[in-house]
Amino acid sequence: MTIVDPTITSAWARLSELKAAYVPDLRGAFAADPDRATRYSRTCADLHVDLSKNLIDDDILAALLDLAEQVGLAERRDAMFAGDRINVTENRSVLHTALRRPASDTLVVDGTDVVPQVHEVLDKIYAFADRVRSGDWVGVTGKRIETVVNIGIGGSDLGPVMVYEALKPYVQSGLTCRFISNIDPTDLAEKVGDLDPETTLFIIASKTFTTLETLTNARMARDWLWRKLIEQGAIEDSEDARTGAVAKHFVAVSTALDKVEAFGIDPANAFGFWDWVGGRYSVDSAVGTVLAVAIGKDNFAELLGGFHAVDNHFADEPFESNVPALMGLLNVWYVNFFKAKSHAVLPYAQYLHRFAAYLQQLTMESNGKGVRADGAPVTTETGEVFWGEPGTNGQHAFYQLIHQGTQLIPCDFIAMANTAHPTKDGDADVHELFLANFFAQTKALAFGKTAEEVRAEGVAEELVSAKVFSGNRPTTSIMAPLLTPSVVGQLIALYEHITFTQGIVWGIDSFDQWGVELGKQLAMQIAPAISQDDDALAAQDPSTRGLIEYYRSQRR
Ligand code: F6P
Repeated sequence: MTIVDPTITSAWARLSELKAAYVPDLRGAFAADPDRATRYSRTCADLHVDLSKNLIDDDILAALLDLAEQVGLAERRDAMFAGDRINVTENRSVLHTALRRPASDTLVVDGTDVVPQVHEVLDKIYAFADRVRSGDWVGVTGKRIETVVNIGIGGSDLGPVMVYEALKPYVQSGLTCRFISNIDPTDLAEKVGDLDPETTLFIIASKTFTTLETLTNARMARDWLWRKLIEQGAIEDSEDARTGAVAKHFVAVSTALDKVEAFGIDPANAFGFWDWVGGRYSVDSAVGTVLAVAIGKDNFAELLGGFHAVDNHFADEPFESNVPALMGLLNVWYVNFFKAKSHAVLPYAQYLHRFAAYLQQLTMESNGKGVRADGAPVTTETGEVFWGEPGTNGQHAFYQLIHQGTQLIPCDFIAMANTAHPTKDGDADVHELFLANFFAQTKALAFGKTAEEVRAEGVAEELVSAKVFSGNRPTTSIMAPLLTPSVVGQLIALYEHITFTQGIVWGIDSFDQWGVELGKQLAMQIAPAISQDDDALAAQDPSTRGLIEYYRSQRR
């Protein structure tokens, strides 16, 4: 694979020139072009996307589109969709888009049509989900399942939690899901403390089925289940009874079904996927089993349909109207030409309160790299920090810095036209009040408030500068009719493809994650030094040794 250094393209040179000459003036730009909002708004499936409050003009947009062409974005995108091994450092295809193809599609990779495989697993998941939801699947004492606990971490946790929270109105009543991820024993203790083991089902989700946190928590959960069932007199204290309890209360999701079996879970109760699904791209694979149980087959299928609609848009739409491509290129514009270090995602939808946390893994594990796919160093900045919180909460916390701080922080604002909970406060529609804040923030960020406007409000002269808003702080506004399963799928796929676009421009492999390995290795090496092995302690660097000694002196 030949990687084009973006910084030596003519498009990059043009962007540098344009940036040097660019004087941000969104007030002026809107005044000069009354059609700016329309001209810079796009539609992507059900998403209405207004790019007009970004620091762009037609020349900049044209140069960004040239950059896409010169780095081969279209070819790379097509290679991903076709199943080429674009994850070069792991020699793998990248086919999360195959997970949401309809059964009627065909996608032959290495001589095998993967679409029937995907649907075979989906059918198995749906059958399982139906059994749990209908009460046909019962625990060891014959009671129906009331709580499903997903144990996983990273991509085997963040996607499922985020979507579960986003789609709460679609969760079957009488069924609750919980999520355990952290190896901090307090996570498991807090999540199972009040549960009845007879009505609890665990899903152990791990692509590799080797992840320390997940396997430790899975063993702890199994011990908890056995201990509680025995204490309650629900099962005898025997090997057979324990095995029988695991069969009724544990299922697994993994690409390593042999390891699932070795853990003691019947492969009949395991849902597989493939090494061509990256962890952070896996919520639409069997990793979403907990969601299929929670929201049911039809809603899960609608979620996949949302993903697929945006896949089609990314695959087919010319880049000038291709929303993921445009948003990815805009991010490049800000990171590389404005030296933006971070990007805020601000959903005005409380149900999306885990969306930014989910995006942190998607974007930063994908593009937080200093080496290109061919092993050479990158030639420009990569991987901005993604962060955020729902509005309006963030307004009362960190928006100060976005409005008046010294850093440029591009923001994506996301809102739904309708709410699952229409509510009145007197005569006022509370959702409209909420949306007023959404509209107001991007307006304030774009157009600011001049010293003259501040003075006109009668503000004392010594306070004027503190009350001025510079404006020209870039935002993209994304709106959709309602937070349905489809819209949630669309939003996820949108950010997957934005991330892909940025990775292609920077020439990096957005699908490996070698940067997480060193810490894992060292944790295993350090573990013996913590409590017993003094030689291992002596072998540590002075800072680590000092910290472990502090721990030893304080432990009770
Ligand atoms: O350590 C990072 C990582 O490999 C992520 O990429 C992944 O989502 C997570 O760990 C969990 O991995 P697994 O699903 O194999 O347990």
